[in-house]
Amino acid sequence: MTVDPTLLSLFPASTTVDADGALEVAGIRLSTLADEFGTPVQVVDETALRQRARDFVDGLTRRRPGSSVAFASKSFPCTAIYRVMAEEDLHIDVAGAGELITALKAGVPAAQIVLHGNAKTDHELGLAVDAGVGTIVIDGWDDISRIERLDGPPQPVLLRVIPGVDAPTMAAVATGHHGSKFGLALDEARKAIDHLRSSDRFDVRGIHVHIGSQILTVDAFAEAVEAVADLGTFDVYDVGGGLGVRYHRTDEAPTVDEYLDTITQAASAHLPAAAELWIEPGRSMVAQSAVTLYRVVTVKRGDQTFVAVDGGIADNMEASTYVGTRFDAVLADRPANGAPVELVGRQCESGDLFASDLPLHAPQIGDVVALPVTGAYTYTLLSNYNGALRPPVVFVRDGSVKLVVRRETYDELTARDVVGGLLRH
Ligand SMILES: Cc1ncc(COP(=O)(O)O)c(C=O)c1O
Repeated sequence: MTVDPTLLSLFPASTTVDADGALEVAGIRLSTLADEFGTPVQVVDETALRQRARDFVDGLTRRRPGSSVAFASKSFPCTAIYRVMAEEDLHIDVAGAGELITALKAGVPAAQIVLHGNAKTDHELGLAVDAGVGTIVIDGWDDISRIERLDGPPQPVLLRVIPGVDAPTMAAVATGHHGSKFGLALDEARKAIDHLRSSDRFDVRGIHVHIGSQILTVDAFAEAVEAVADLGTFDVYDVGGGLGVRYHRTDEAPTVDEYLDTITQAASAHLPAAAELWIEPGRSMVAQSAVTLYRVVTVKRGDQTFVAVDGGIADNMEASTYVGTRFDAVLADRPANGAPVELVGRQCESGDLFASDLPLHAPQIGDVVALPVTGAYTYTLLSNYNGALRPPVVFVRDGSVKLVVRRETYDELTARDVVGGLLRH
């Protein structure tokens, strides 16, 4: 059976087609995983995940020794992923108390954690300071005054600045432009730096910028580095995440090497030679390591053929939220091309569309559909829309299978509902 190689290249590197023409990841047939764990199910190739982490760490430190990679955990904040990233010696970015607590419970050393957020509460900052979080990224004056009210040794901080760079991406995920809600504009940042440096409550390590997500050309990353260069001399310049990925066989995206070449060359040109360069990849770290499996529930034939599966927006907000992100997919047991169909979900919105004109091979009820590149911003944006149960996550590695998140139950769906609660007068 011939399978489009550009389609296969969206799957983890261990993906093969077996003698019966069925897709395998890490030596395990995907339809077997669908039978065993039910659908939808998110399958993560642990080897691919670790390899990607090493590609970033080795690639960055080879080009600029002493630099660091932090995993932007908002892209996949589950205990097993935190553990893998910490075992690979990455720093971990968290946004808010929930991610911070999950990371700590997963065993991530507090010193390796970087706390973000444009609206950190007193509670969150208190938790972070008490836990000994390695770095807090100051987003504005309120962070400064909140930390000043807390006791403790000088807190290592970075200051998030708005570089004034319009990243070529969707408006919803652009963050580096003038008027962004994240960070301080350059003039205001200068005042904040003076204040931070004059206070014994802070250990000012450096500057942070993050210009957005799903960025598919590299020039804007270099612009952001240049934009912050004249803020002064610092030990650390954290240039955030944002590298985009291919979702569809026809997409193109920069490689990790192209991205790292760009930012390290910009750093050599504009930043102090001794400064550490930090990066925070999220999407590009986890996206391609995961495949989500669904089962076909209905096939509606007419002018167009609608193939509806047993998941949708509830387990993958990416397809509908970021208009323009369209997925690719294939039947796990018949991955060859067929006539084009509309691959839709089961939630009550027309935007619940995974792929248009998708060449599935004679889809039938019960077939398993494999949707690649689902590792980023799916787990974290899961919902119970239409009463959907949040799906399990399974790690596969060299022929072995490990359940790392189980499926939610119907009892859990109503567990927080208070029945017969009294109104207070
Ligand atoms: C501060 C910060 N760093 C890193 C990231 C990760 O971005 P991405 O997943 O696009 O790599 C984000 C997400 O938008 C972010 O807000």
